[in-house]
Amino acid sequence: MKIIIVKDQQQGGEKALEVFKQALDQGAEVFGLATGSTPLTTYTELVNSDLDFSQKISLNLDEYVGLKADDPQSYHAYMQQHLFKFKQFKQSYLPQGDAADAQAEIQRYNELLTKFPIDLQLLGIGKNGHIGFNEPGSSFTEQTRKVKLTPSTVAANARFFDSAADVPQYAYSMGIGSIMRAKKILLEAFGSAKATAAAAMIEGPVTPDCPASVLQQHPDVTVILDQAAAAKLS
Ligand code: F6R
Repeated sequence: MKIIIVKDQQQGGEKALEVFKQALDQGAEVFGLATGSTPLTTYTELVNSDLDFSQKISLNLDEYVGLKADDPQSYHAYMQQHLFKFKQFKQSYLPQGDAADAQAEIQRYNELLTKFPIDLQLLGIGKNGHIGFNEPGSSFTEQTRKVKLTPSTVAANARFFDSAADVPQYAYSMGIGSIMRAKKILLEAFGSAKATAAAAMIEGPVTPDCPASVLQQHPDVTVILDQAAAAKLS
């Protein structure tokens, strides 16, 4: 793992832009994308850059089960608002939250991931060490699936909803097996709330108790931490 420690989230976004640039220079065609607070400065940097994604493919990690693409709380809406409105990709895919047939949707997404192998996967990390919505205890080999969110993840995401009761309890998520197939991984973590998870990911044992610890076994991972998120590294 290559660890980069920056002052704050703003600088983190600037560093992430360099990683995207380098991936494009190296011929990356397919980008795995994330939502949440963490990648916001990265998306702003991408939007303000002259990088061209118009011939590239994007695939998002996850989407809430039950939300339509035009629901303002959906990850479709997030991606539109923060990135796709400004930077268009040739094709952009997310799991379809309101799919009528969950099994068919999971199969569709896994087929997309096989057709478009990810060159650079952007990740955040949950306070409990989750990546995507692969909560502690998740298998390291699974592909896309429907997952039940833990109470701590529901609580953490409640800030984007009117109340915790409105937060969906299930999501479609790429599995850890899907994430590990990406050629290169860029994980960002900002703020003191992520310090314990970041230390467990980087220095702890590789265990499903901290799903992100599996990244120690990936050959090409860059981690960008701000000083607060790096505070518990030894
Ligand atoms: C988002 C995702 C999640 C988040 C994680 C951190 O697509 O898959 O794993 O990256 O929950 O969320 P934030 O960035 O909001 O702290």
